[in-house]
Order: sequence, then C-alpha cells, then structure tokens
Amino acid sequence: MTSGKVSVLDIKGLTKTYGAVTAVDNVDLHIDHGEILGLIGPNGSGKSTFFDCSTGLATPDSGSVSLEGSDITNWSLNRIAREGRMLRSFQKTVVFKKLDVEENLVIAGQMFTFPSVLSTFSVGKRSRMRIEGLRKHARELIELTGLGPVAHMAAGNLSGGQQKLIQFASMLMPDPRLIMLDEPMAGINPKLVERVIDTIRYANREMGVSFLIIEHNIDVVTSLCSRAIVLDQGRKLCEGTPAEVIANKQVREAYLGG
Ligand SMILES: Nc1ncnc2c1ncn2[C@@H]1O[C@H](COP(=O)(O)OP(=O)(O)OP(=O)(O)O)[C@@H](O)[C@H]1O
Ligand SMILES: [Mg+2]
Repeated sequence: MTSGKVSVLDIKGLTKTYGAVTAVDNVDLHIDHGEILGLIGPNGSGKSTFFDCSTGLATPDSGSVSLEGSDITNWSLNRIAREGRMLRSFQKTVVFKKLDVEENLVIAGQMFTFPSVLSTFSVGKRSRMRIEGLRKHARELIELTGLGPVAHMAAGNLSGGQQKLIQFASMLMPDPRLIMLDEPMAGINPKLVERVIDTIRYANREMGVSFLIIEHNIDVVTSLCSRAIVLDQGRKLCEGTPAEVIANKQVREAYLGG
C-alpha cells in the first residue's frame, strides 16, 4: 500500500499447500487503484492458485485478502463474483454458446444487477427499464471490443479469440473495480491480441478498472503493465517495472532461460 491510500486489492502472507506441494508460499501483493499489474512465472509457479485463493475458488491455508479496504478472506467465489467489484477469468474460456454475443453480455449484466433469479424474469416496468439499460451498455461494449459485426451470431460459432473478447466484455458489464485475467492472450491470433490489449487499456483509462494479469508473453507485459511480480515455486522472486524484472538475474535463470 502506498502512503495512506487504500489499495484496490491488498493481500498479505497468502499460502496454499496441496499435499506436499506449497503452491503459494507466503506471498504479499497489492494493487493500487488504476494500476495494471503483471503476474508472471514459470509453469507450476503458483499463479493460478494465487488467483484461486484470492477469488474464493480455493481456501488459503493462511493469509488475508482485502478488497478496497474490506476483508474478504474466505468469501466464496459466488459471493465475490455476485458483488461485481472483483471479477476473474479462467484459463479456459466460458461463454453461453447458444446465445448470441449481445445476449451473452445482457445475461452477464443481469447476474450482477438482479438480486434473485426470479426477478430476472419479472416483467414490471422497472425490470424492463433495467434490461434496456443493460442492452445499451452491452452495445457500447460490443463496439468497444470490435464484436459489432458478429453481435447477433451464436457465441459457439465464433473463434476462440472472439469468445475471449465476449468473456472480457461480459466482465465489464457490472463496472468492476478490478479484473483478474489468467492468460488472456493464450491461443489467440496476433490481430486479436492487439484488440484485447486496446480493450484492457480503454477499460483501465476510461472506466477506471484496475487489472491483475497472468501473462507469459513478456512483450504484452511490457506494453501493458506498470509493474510486474514474478513467482517461482510459489514464492515471490522479485517485483518492479517490467524492465527491472526482465533484467533481474534470478528471473532470467528461473524463467527466461538464462
Ligand atoms: N487443485 C490442485 N490440486 C493439487 N495440486 C494443485 C492444484 N492446483 C494446483 N496444484 C499444484 O500447485 C502448483 C502450482 O500450480 P498453478 O496451476 O497455480 O501454477 P501456474 O503458475 O498457474 O502454472 P501454469 O503457468 O502452467 O498455468 C503446481 O505444482 C500444481 O501441480
Ligand atoms: Mg496457471
């Protein structure tokens, strides 16, 4: 945390073991408001487990997780997601395959803005206005992500990269404070990589969303992130600007092949 300011996310001493493996070992991490932080490290270094323990998918053995100053350690994944302040993606992309792009986004918005499943289907004037508001927001995000030409195609018929963009746009529907992305560029073509980078930048600058991004592509980390943290065997190996991290001798040995 920097002088007196409340971080968007502040994690202290996070530890998670699976049997004999300490997947995450006493890691501290904070993200300032408006920051894009990179989380890098070799395969199996604990990056996804760190996400799991921060977002309620797994229970940490010890450590604390604070979101905008409130303690959310041990909150469930559902509780954290429903609140809509901190959202995460998974290494595997998940979309509603039979629904078109716009419907995917509207449904995502409904999950956050409607208090119960029943009210999702209510037909009162207020709920119609809410749906109209969600549709408008969905259309804006569809334009932003360049999905306009395929807005009314079934998500399942689109490419893996386009599905990632749908997932990303869906996450922006509730205007979250923080988005955690697990390898957002994996398996997508270079043109769409540029599009995802632009969208992350736009969401960061114009919507005030902070990001924590797991990314193996060092060029992407350098282009997007102001700071990066390197994990190795569950432990924090170093942190600094992308240039500092890349220049670090231990990082080069552990991760970048010397
Ligand atoms: N559910 C689980 N059960 C048992 N072991 C696990 C589980 N999840 C992760 N691990 C172990 O924890 C360690 C860290 O794995 P994790 O998936 O967090 O690494 P990662 O940095 O995300 O790797 P990658 O870059 O390959 O995605 C690995 O040794 C992994 O085998
Ligand atoms: Mg992983």
